[in-house]
Amino acid sequence: MAEGMNDLTKHVVDLRRHMWLDGVEVELRRLIWQIAVVGKYISARIHESNRKLAGFKNIYGEEQLALDRISDEILKNKLQHSGFVSQYASEERDDIVTIGKGTESYIVTADPLDGSSLVDTNLAIGTIIGIHKKSLFDCGRNSMVAALYITYGPLITMIYSAGKGAHEFVLDREGEYVLSEENIRLKGKGSIFSPGGLRKDWTDNHLKFIDALERDGYKLRYSGGFVPDINQVIIKRGGLFTYPALKESPQGKLRLLFELQPMAFIIEQAGGMATDGKTDILSLEITTVNQRSPIYIGSAAEVKMAGEFLNQ
Ligand code: F6P
Repeated sequence: MAEGMNDLTKHVVDLRRHMWLDGVEVELRRLIWQIAVVGKYISARIHESNRKLAGFKNIYGEEQLALDRISDEILKNKLQHSGFVSQYASEERDDIVTIGKGTESYIVTADPLDGSSLVDTNLAIGTIIGIHKKSLFDCGRNSMVAALYITYGPLITMIYSAGKGAHEFVLDREGEYVLSEENIRLKGKGSIFSPGGLRKDWTDNHLKFIDALERDGYKLRYSGGFVPDINQVIIKRGGLFTYPALKESPQGKLRLLFELQPMAFIIEQAGGMATDGKTDILSLEITTVNQRSPIYIGSAAEVKMAGEFLNQ
């Protein structure tokens, strides 16, 4: 628990106060706060949307909900006016956008509304943010200073890490993000697994690994939304999410900058691991904005076990 807090006051600690206690530098604190506020606007738009499809495709050929575009615009505009962000890279845009004067300290990556195709089913979806201090074309370990994600489900929750643990906040009825868990720590080993991709497309070694998890009694928990699937690993204190290399797509499906690096940053801060089967996600060099990678992320035992199967 951060200095100055005790059990009695813990439940009323809001995000701003927590970041101040957490020692997050002023500009970064303001930036994280502003992004968290955008989450409230996005959630309002989700409620208003009534599940309407926009009928156009994004650069990956996926059908987009208008909500994706709206969320991206809201986020970009807010960041543009923050005065802290020089560049904005979004999964919804082809290129990195310069939104500052060039003197600002941070570069922000966003998947503004991940899993938006789940809106019609009323499953949870989310926003994923990475905050970098240097160029994006480096490895996350050198460039990232913070990451956060917001879940839009029965509750709106936000987990952030600025490099000193991972902390969860829940949006309360007054519209405040209130601390619900501080310094979340995963156990060394969990009991759930979320395997992406089709079994017929998996490599032999990945298939053997998943079979071993099933034999060990791991329970299948896959929603099709990266944010809630990672969130359950964190909140249940362990387990594994994977979207592996596929026979026809050796780099898997998920994008390093927008999805994998931020989640790897948070999971590592919660005591877990994230690799591509061999190398830590945060040690992978980024060379293109749309770079993808296989991922094994969660508690240490399962991620290490994946490495053993994949590298035999
Ligand atoms: O990247 C978009 C996404 O919807 C993720 O949120 C999710 O983990 C993954 O794709 C699901 O992919 P699939 O539909 O192949 O299971």
